[in-house]
Amino acid sequence: MPNTHPRRDALRLGAFAGVALLAPALSAEVSNAEASTTHFRHGVASGDPLPERVVLWTRVTPTEDSAPGSGVGPTVVVTYEVAKDAQFRQVVRRGDVTTGPDRDHTVKLDVGGLRPGRWYFYRFTFDGRHSPVGRTRTAPAHHADVDQLRFGVVSCSSWVAGHFAAYRHLAERADLDAVVHLGDYLYEDYIGTQFRTHQPPGETVSLTDYRIRHAQYKTDPDLQRLHATYPWIITWDDHEWADNAWADGSPSHDETTEGTWAQRRAAAMRAYHEWMPVRLDGDRVYRRLRFGTLAELTMLDLRTYRSRQVDPAQVDQPGRTLTGPDQMAFLRDGLLNSGAQWKLIGNPVIFSPLLVPQLPQAGAVSQLVGPTINNDQWDGYPHDRDALIRLLDEHDVRDTVFLTGDVHSSWAFEVPVDEALYPLTKVVATELVVPSVTSDNIDELTGSPPRTTSLALEAALVGLNRHLKWVELDSHGYTVLDVRREHVRMNWYFLAERTDPNSAAALAKTVTVVSGTQRIG
Ligand SMILES: [Fe+2]
Repeated sequence: MPNTHPRRDALRLGAFAGVALLAPALSAEVSNAEASTTHFRHGVASGDPLPERVVLWTRVTPTEDSAPGSGVGPTVVVTYEVAKDAQFRQVVRRGDVTTGPDRDHTVKLDVGGLRPGRWYFYRFTFDGRHSPVGRTRTAPAHHADVDQLRFGVVSCSSWVAGHFAAYRHLAERADLDAVVHLGDYLYEDYIGTQFRTHQPPGETVSLTDYRIRHAQYKTDPDLQRLHATYPWIITWDDHEWADNAWADGSPSHDETTEGTWAQRRAAAMRAYHEWMPVRLDGDRVYRRLRFGTLAELTMLDLRTYRSRQVDPAQVDQPGRTLTGPDQMAFLRDGLLNSGAQWKLIGNPVIFSPLLVPQLPQAGAVSQLVGPTINNDQWDGYPHDRDALIRLLDEHDVRDTVFLTGDVHSSWAFEVPVDEALYPLTKVVATELVVPSVTSDNIDELTGSPPRTTSLALEAALVGLNRHLKWVELDSHGYTVLDVRREHVRMNWYFLAERTDPNSAAALAKTVTVVSGTQRIG
């Protein structure tokens, strides 16, 4: 990737010497306390970078009664500016956006006319007051011969389960291109250890509920800071709507007391699109972002089109789907016709086959990954998975890497054509699973100290699933994915204490996938 920042930044950020990509410093305005308590108290965000476009987002609070979810307050005009520099001396785009109570006073625009592979700064202005300044980066040009990319990758960030120190650590890095969030960005309801309190209390059901919940998450200082520091590329999993959601319902939704599922899903989707820096194509959330000839990132939506989860004995029933036919065709097309080397797939639930060992502690694992198999993962939808594995095998597609969330723990799989024959079978892809930012994992579910009960479970999992090369069930944190021509490398960073906003984080594991091998090294 071309190094577009001034040399003085590279010198000042000497800790990253040798890294091709370094971000220009974000001015102190990003943490401007005054801005955060007046009109722009939910921060700023950007997302879905294309070579010439990026989505910009904020929420304006023009009057005290214009609270999130209130449905009241004036219609107002907010000005946006995009500049080459943090001081806004070289403004390249400026315009007005109208917002009001019909969209919960959120502001979202898709700014075009930008240059590829560049850092930009942006801010919003209302009534003479500026928002915090955000920094973002466009994707490299479609055919750019990029030699390095770096993404922060996260999932499962429950407000009540702890603090977002993982976001702070990512925001403090100067060497990322973007942040990828694989789902469970927020929770409609959280059953587990609770250190903070959700707003509104209890489960979100109505449009007002979902708006207030989104707004609450957007008040977290570490979340605000990471949004202001890098563009995010986000997909949803179930908790953005309701637990274990499928196309036409959720086990936690009761139509006799909570209204129709269609109403609830529409409310959740509407609040999501209002509050998240995600580019909309109609209602379609699955999409592909390309980063020169080095990588394409396909973000999947595994809730909108999926068939209902069924008993493990019935998962083979004909016609069942996780992706839906249109998304499957889109995914197949991307895998077969990609002009980019690495096919990265932002995948909310585990793709690889996984058997759960029957141990006394396995009850806790079952809460995360099911009693024998997890019917909420691709294991519950073998037709779709087999079709993809066959495609990768028959067309000899290389360098496909699934980036996965959902299970609040860390895993590295090789994806075999036939797991029963592994290792005497072709491997067609790899899968790297990121831990939760905060949500409970095995030590919390079993009530055991970290790295005690889980050790036997981890050994049993690896023994039963030979294509599973590594698993760690106890830690929270974040990952950083380094993409180069010769390999992708995932670094897992684990937090010392999820309830401490100032928690330290340390590198715990590195996995390398050498190009062309589909092997975990
Ligand atoms: Fe989760």
